Amino acid sequence: MDEWVRIAQLDQLPDGRGVRVDAFGHRIALFRLGEAVYALADRCSHAEASLSEGEVFEDEIECPRHGATFNLATGEALTLPATKPQQKYDVKIADGDVFLALQEAS
Ligand code: FES
Repeated sequence: MDEWVRIAQLDQLPDGRGVRVDAFGHRIALFRLGEAVYALADRCSHAEASLSEGEVFEDEIECPRHGATFNLATGEALTLPATKPQQKYDVKIADGDVFLALQEAS
């Protein structure tokens, strides 16, 4: 069962680029776009590069290694060479804190 875990303060996340956080055994890439935050698995589904080091274009993240793009909200793989989606995490923001729905990674 997922638990809401406080992961960051909204105003401490840089706007428009990624940050890597580790929690509950998950390696997570957080992306803040204005007042919204998206969370995807940090390891690219193609060859495990760190998506938090990629570049954000509107609602997409471009992998820094081979350039595949993923939808930030859904994790869908949009361009090759990635063909598998990124795991996405549910996010909620309350009183300026960012929470993710997580369970201990197995
Ligand atoms: S490691 Fe991300 S596109 Fe290859």
